[in-house]
Amino acid sequence: MVGCCQVLLIMKTIVSNIEENDDYNKIIKDAGEIIRKGGLVAFPTETVYGLGGDGLNPEASKKIYAAKGRPSDNPLILHICDIKQLEDIAETDDVRIKKLAEKFWPGPLTMVLKKKDIVPKSTTGGLETVAVRMPNNKVALDLIRAANTPIAAPSANTSGRPSPTNGKRVAEDLDGKIDMILDAGSVEIGLESSIIDLTGEKACILRPGAVTKEMFEEVLGEIDVDRVVKDPSSVKEGYKPKAPGMKYRHYAPKAELKMFRGEEKKVANEINKLAAEDEKCGLKVGIIASLETAKLYDFGEVVVIGPRNNDVEIARNLYEILREFDDKKADRIYSEVFEDGKLAKAIMNRFSKAASNNIIDIL
Ligand code: TXA
Ligand code: MG
Repeated sequence: MVGCCQVLLIMKTIVSNIEENDDYNKIIKDAGEIIRKGGLVAFPTETVYGLGGDGLNPEASKKIYAAKGRPSDNPLILHICDIKQLEDIAETDDVRIKKLAEKFWPGPLTMVLKKKDIVPKSTTGGLETVAVRMPNNKVALDLIRAANTPIAAPSANTSGRPSPTNGKRVAEDLDGKIDMILDAGSVEIGLESSIIDLTGEKACILRPGAVTKEMFEEVLGEIDVDRVVKDPSSVKEGYKPKAPGMKYRHYAPKAELKMFRGEEKKVANEINKLAAEDEKCGLKVGIIASLETAKLYDFGEVVVIGPRNNDVEIARNLYEILREFDDKKADRIYSEVFEDGKLAKAIMNRFSKAASNNIIDIL
């Protein structure tokens, strides 16, 4: 059985607005101390907020799983602040590691490597491999330095909910369950890191992110992409993704979400038709549109995710919009697809998961 639960005591969570605070160094020092003593601190990264604990302390990882309500077979990423820390936790003789680290760290890249014994299996979900990332965020790097240990950190959300992209959303899920939240406002990217597996002969992308396949291939030559990334429905057919987390229904709003692909006016007509029927039945409808197409909708609450060709803005807004529709108690959400730009693969990977792969082609 996969265990995830431990009785949680309600605790007083300290929330520090770290960027506006004069006492930055003291807050980081206190936060580092909490981690060293086995406690939990949520912190910003450039991708999404992380829920951090001492990655070498099995008790801390147990607390992380409990606070998130996360199944314990879903391993955690260890966050480091300099390359020397990597040698303590993973085998590093593979030249590809150095090449990727030089090019993309600190940044939105996680490498799956062979672990060293010091890393407890409670952190790696029982695996002999460990996922490692050096985030590109000053607060995160200062915190890891202060804690003087690799910090295990999944996204700082309740398991299954969209990842938090600002401190307020972290508090919504975790206030009273963890020791401290370092709130530095909104993150830069808004989608989790790219994960690449380097334990096999051919490198393989396990989760798409801001470091794209093309960017990896410039450094490594041809690489693979895990089947579940290419074809999300393969999980239903029994395929076991190499990143265990990719099998869970993630990133999901409470409402039923459907996406529509096709010529923009035809998509808008279809969504208008469905939204009108839903509203007649008393359902609350949300619509996610681009800046250019928002005016085509006559029903539901229309939210603009960004200009159609601005993948950076779309990525940054996605999770917050899904959470806002939760706040508004939407019953149904209809969205266009967003398949342009460098971040499109990552955006559609998360978006289609939130929609349980419910993407309808309008011919
Ligand atoms: O951007 C990010 O990566 C954020 C920030 C906080 O750094 N973290 C994050 O963590 O997204 P989490 O726990 O939400 O997602 C980690 C993913 C999961 O899908 C997990 O299964 C996979 O990484 N993973 C972790 N260790 C692994 C390993 N040893 N082998 C394969 N997949 C692994
Ligand atoms: Mg997550």
